[in-house]
Amino acid sequence: MPRIVPANSQYILEAARMLQRGGVVAFPTETVYGLGALTFDGQAIEQVYELKGRPADNPLIAHVLDARQARELIEPGAWDERCDLLASRFWPGPLTLVLAKSPRVGSRATAGRSTIAVRAPRHPVARALIEAAQQPISAPSANRSGRISPTSAQHVFDEFRDVEPARDLMILDGGPCEVGIESTVLDLTTSPPRVLRPGSVTLESLRETLGDIEAADIRSQAHSPGTRESHYAPRTPTELVSSESLANVLSACAGRGIRCAALVLGATPVTAGQIRIVMPREADHYAHELYRRLREADALGADRIIVESPPATSQVWRAVLDRLQRAAAGRE
Ligand code: TXA
Ligand code: MG
Repeated sequence: MPRIVPANSQYILEAARMLQRGGVVAFPTETVYGLGALTFDGQAIEQVYELKGRPADNPLIAHVLDARQARELIEPGAWDERCDLLASRFWPGPLTLVLAKSPRVGSRATAGRSTIAVRAPRHPVARALIEAAQQPISAPSANRSGRISPTSAQHVFDEFRDVEPARDLMILDGGPCEVGIESTVLDLTTSPPRVLRPGSVTLESLRETLGDIEAADIRSQAHSPGTRESHYAPRTPTELVSSESLANVLSACAGRGIRCAALVLGATPVTAGQIRIVMPREADHYAHELYRRLREADALGADRIIVESPPATSQVWRAVLDRLQRAAAGRE
């Protein structure tokens, strides 16, 4: 079974040694937990794909301490003035930049692409681990492919408890993640730059820094395979419904004997046999709670998860909606 250990300096050092010996470890970032291997260790990265059951064409994010370390991973000259502006404003933090990769980076770390995604996380444990390993760490979210991203060490444990090759997995416990949804991914190789995945670093704030930037489009997945439509998905069929139709949907389900777990935004009358989980009305707070609450709803054994659709009134709400749409995609 995987083991959860406190993220103190002793275990961070042990985790760094495991990475240096070609191992894989799970660690907290401010967004979600990551499943890491050294960026320059193709074999270890292979293990990450295997543990996650991740499609081989979906590249990983390399986690670095700062701009200096990021530059070691990208093509000489690809780090330009825009990168300096973005890094000084948003790093360390939940912004990932896609740039042309250095020939030094093996193809396994980028799923064969000529570009690499890099970000400097701000979580102190992630930073201490990169520092102790003395190298960049490539890490996808520490969930099985297609499932809900983990925002606590226990979530990571739950994902991998029955995965045989993960029996020795060390999970550094750094508490619940502050942001709760994955980083904003910005592709700087296109003109204009394009947001491939929305997150808590908003389009407005990126535009303030860089000017023209294209918004993410949930249906354009070719550029970032990890944003395929069905993702972040509970096992229970999940449906996203408007506030206006919520009461009708719940009572129709009740009438047909369908047991629902409902993630709602406010006081909604509860129908017999249905469970209501009240979600925060503020976007950052909702994002922080989202995956924990979806996991909770999934564990209830309901027939269906009904999510009251939040308003698309801000970029953080849009990022939340992006995750909810994918959680519900491909379901009835
Ligand atoms: O917040 C986060 O970004 C978390 C933490 C652990 O840092 N990581 C994360 O990784 O969400 P993952 O692998 O679950 O998502 C990475 C996303 C995917 O959508 C992937 O397709 C995209 O980044 N990506 C990675 N490298 C890319 C590249 N070279 N070009 C385009 N998209 C890329
Ligand atoms: Mg992921």
